[in-house]
Amino acid sequence: MSVYSLITRRRSIRRFKQTPIPFDTLKKLVDTARLAPSATNMQPLQYIIIDDKDQVNALFGHTQWARLLPNNSGRPAEHQQPVAFIVILANKALETAWTNHDVGAAVENMILAALEEGIGSCWIASVNRPYVTEAFHIPENFKVDSVLGLGYPDEDPVAEPLTQSTDYYKDDKGRLHVPKRSLDEVLHHNGF
Ligand SMILES: Cc1cc2nc3c(=O)[nH]c(=O)nc-3n(C[C@H](O)[C@H](O)[C@H](O)COP(=O)(O)O)c2cc1C
Repeated sequence: MSVYSLITRRRSIRRFKQTPIPFDTLKKLVDTARLAPSATNMQPLQYIIIDDKDQVNALFGHTQWARLLPNNSGRPAEHQQPVAFIVILANKALETAWTNHDVGAAVENMILAALEEGIGSCWIASVNRPYVTEAFHIPENFKVDSVLGLGYPDEDPVAEPLTQSTDYYKDDKGRLHVPKRSLDEVLHHNGF
């Protein structure tokens, strides 16, 4: 699939089949993050692959999913949890004013490379950082940025034109709808 097709088809996935992801595939995702653009080429980011079932389950308990949906209905059920996480870390000694931008580029690389392998993902910033720091023995000079939840998709969310609210919602069949601003709204040409 072309990069353009991957980008336009990508949606955050929060329901996963319980099929494991091969470790080599997870490594390949981190390799795409490693090669992402980085301000002044400082490359402050490191990554932990978590694919041990018990560790994935424990970390899952310290993440929050689709908080805009009512009654915690965006949280994956036990049989639909991610099968792996990638923890994104920033080395404090190498941080620049642009480290957040580095994270964005690196994580999007992983998201798109995963999708090419048929793997869905959800980038999770709502994670209990003190828990991650302790549970995964993160050295003091590293900051936990966020985590990427991964697994083969068990849902098919759809993007649609934004009419009123930016809030995503589920229809009566349980399908997630994600309103997106139109190209006309966000695009300017030769001046605002
Ligand atoms: C920096 C960042 C942090 C996010 N954190 C969470 C999160 O903690 N939990 C969650 O369920 N989704 C999280 N998301 C996913 C967004 O909710 C999602 O991207 C948005 O609803 C648009 O849906 P789409 O990714 O399908 O286009 C995050 C996305 C970004 C870019």
